[in-house]
Amino acid sequence: MNDILVFDDVLLKFGKETIYDGLSFTVKKGEFLCILGPSGCGKSTSLRLMGNLLEADDGNVTIEGLPPEHGWNKLAYVFQSPRLVPWRSALGNVLLGMELRFEKLAKSTMAETANRLLDMVGLHEDKDKYPGMLSGGERQRVSIARALSVDPDIILMDEPFSALDLNTRWRMRSEIIRIWQETGKTVIFVTHDIDEALVLADRVLLLSNKPTKALETLTLEEPRPRQIEQSESLTQQKNYLISLFRKLEQPDELETV
Ligand SMILES: Nc1ncnc2c1ncn2[C@@H]1O[C@H](COP(=O)(O)OP(=O)(O)OP(=O)(O)O)[C@@H](O)[C@H]1O
Ligand SMILES: [Mg+2]
Repeated sequence: MNDILVFDDVLLKFGKETIYDGLSFTVKKGEFLCILGPSGCGKSTSLRLMGNLLEADDGNVTIEGLPPEHGWNKLAYVFQSPRLVPWRSALGNVLLGMELRFEKLAKSTMAETANRLLDMVGLHEDKDKYPGMLSGGERQRVSIARALSVDPDIILMDEPFSALDLNTRWRMRSEIIRIWQETGKTVIFVTHDIDEALVLADRVLLLSNKPTKALETLTLEEPRPRQIEQSESLTQQKNYLISLFRKLEQPDELETV
């Protein structure tokens, strides 16, 4: 069995509101999975369940066969806003990630790893800069290096490029594919952008409106780098996802008529 992460019939409520009503999906080791879905359907919440920041009311979440309370340390996060410490340099921020997770690791080993990862994300020249001196894309590169620094098996990314300008966003998408291919990590990438999911993912998991279930899973076999307009199968899959999204939006439209 090479499922590295499993959601099995997960039920979650916040107060009286049912968020997940039997949410099931699996992620394979080494896979790039995009979780796509309408706003408020529980994409970010799914990452919080994986990280043991929340507990399911029923069903099971497992990471490498372990419940999140034991499996959380196989994960690392990259958030929409990079959440860097302003008084530490790029290097210092990556080191902080490791210091918090590995108290006993030798300082020299940490420095070696942090330097290597900052090189990998293209910040060779910028290691001593403070977050305030870095561009949005560079800050997000630091947070990717910080996530990689704890050598997680799975990287969780929650709309990591949505605050960046269009060009930077496209550049970061190719970068994350390169880094994923280079490191062999499993990536779970949350987005509400259909094009982004189609360009990045091995598989796209589409979630429904609340109470949320897995609505559809698409496997994308198109080789990378991908250009949606130049691929018949990706164009078809894009049209299919757009039509599913329209259906998801319909109940609201009907209510406002
Ligand atoms: N602590 C909480 N208490 C009550 N409700 C919550 C809490 N956290 C999240 N919710 C609700 O759970 C639902 C899912 O939230 P979540 O942030 O996971 O959505 P999302 O799919 O990530 O949306 P977006 O695309 O807008 O980021 C929302 O309706 C939200 O209001
Ligand atoms: Mg969210």
